[in-house]
Amino acid sequence: MTTTVIRNGTIVTHDLTYKADVLVEGGRIAEIGENLTGDEELDATGCYVMPGGIDPHTHLEMPFMGTYSADDFESGTRAALAGGTTMVVDFALPSPGQGLHDALKMWDNKSTRAHCDYSFHMAVTWWGEQVFHEMKSVIEDRGINTFKHFMAYKGALMVQDDEMYASFQRLAELGGIAMVHAENGDVVADLSARLLREGNTGPEGHAYSRPPQVEGEATNRAIMIADMAGVPLYVVHTSCEDSHEAIRRARQQGKRVWGEPLIQHLTLDESEYFNQDWDYAARRVMSPPFRDKKNQDSLWAGLQAGSLSVVATDHCAFTTEQKRTGIGDFTKIPNGTGGLEDRLPMLWTYGVGTGRLTPNEFVAVTSTNIAKILNCYPKKGAIRVGSDADIVVWDPMKEKTISAKTQQSVIDYNVFEGKHVKGLPRFTLTRGRVAVHDGEVRGQEGHGQFVPREANTPVNRALSTWKELTSPRPVERTGIPATGV
Ligand code: URP
Ligand code: ZN
Ligand code: ZN
Ligand code: ZN
Repeated sequence: MTTTVIRNGTIVTHDLTYKADVLVEGGRIAEIGENLTGDEELDATGCYVMPGGIDPHTHLEMPFMGTYSADDFESGTRAALAGGTTMVVDFALPSPGQGLHDALKMWDNKSTRAHCDYSFHMAVTWWGEQVFHEMKSVIEDRGINTFKHFMAYKGALMVQDDEMYASFQRLAELGGIAMVHAENGDVVADLSARLLREGNTGPEGHAYSRPPQVEGEATNRAIMIADMAGVPLYVVHTSCEDSHEAIRRARQQGKRVWGEPLIQHLTLDESEYFNQDWDYAARRVMSPPFRDKKNQDSLWAGLQAGSLSVVATDHCAFTTEQKRTGIGDFTKIPNGTGGLEDRLPMLWTYGVGTGRLTPNEFVAVTSTNIAKILNCYPKKGAIRVGSDADIVVWDPMKEKTISAKTQQSVIDYNVFEGKHVKGLPRFTLTRGRVAVHDGEVRGQEGHGQFVPREANTPVNRALSTWKELTSPRPVERTGIPATGV
């Protein structure tokens, strides 16, 4: 078996920074130490050797709003590796009435082309006996312990509170984790209709129809429902202070809740929707929308303070042509933006480069925290002997200007176009395979493997112990009054 050694670098994990070489054999980390040798040598002089990024929120080749997102598992995972991300977690979405396993079969087919490892979250898009029963085998036989609920997209993916509560209770029983897209879909639908009636048909109408309050309200509602059901909750794409506040308060109260800001919301703001060029604005339409700039400080502070845990992309890329379906009616613009290739360089530049994050915090929020939450740590998210050799050799001096012309994604633009980043991969290894070599992408379609994740994580167990201990029980009384006398 050939071996690869990463020499002369500084290892950076979520908790440590130290100089050592890393020996890779059979797709795993075989040894960490000084002066190691191997068949192939990768020079990491001046670089940080970090766990590859994990993006827990992607939609590759996703059927949505009458079309399919343009990046599939081939181009999407190629883009991921180019930017130092070595694992993606995509959402398997059953259509109304479709079984969970049927939907998973479709995602199994699409994902055979992946260049890097991947896992799935299951979406609960409708509720009934079949879903209730299949949840168990999805968890136990397929190794999928995370279930997402859309509180928005009324008439399509949205579930009602009673369905969400039923699903959350089922997850508590099975040891799974609940996820939510938290926006009040009823309010969004009503605001959208009103805006259209009043002639607000352009992309800015999308932002007006989804004010921070719809996200704050839904986040708080999901947190309370999860608490009553006794299930840990992961809130995807936390974009504003209103939602962050609810998460922060819940965590401070001991509730098991995580928040996930996106790199887009950390670095781009709502002024993008006021651009005079329709295409420019429509390309940035996603839910939740980009926010007033003041929300960015809240999100960065949350990452520093630990009230927000993970930075993701929600990569769901549509071409300009696809976006144009919504000319004359913003509600028909396919929702989604890209970011897989840019998440790490953007977060490093605007986070570590500005002193908002330490390199160790960077590793935590791009890789290790989510590996622990999803229950695939330390197989993923770690530089340790025995861990998968999903590694990024990060050159903090390497610079570029982001441009659609040089990106891996198949779409014709990039929402970060023109941003200058400092900090890029020199090498990216996916289970030991060198997929980025001195910046050159050397993908291998089909190399990626599915990563199963077991239920009953330590957090699930702790929460159910606590809920059991504090559950209602009858008071044992001594003096029982005689009856019927
Ligand atoms: O606009 C977005 N975020 N599109 C992808 C689907 C979702 O809501 O996550
Ligand atoms: Zn039944
Ligand atoms: Zn969403
Ligand atoms: Zn999403």
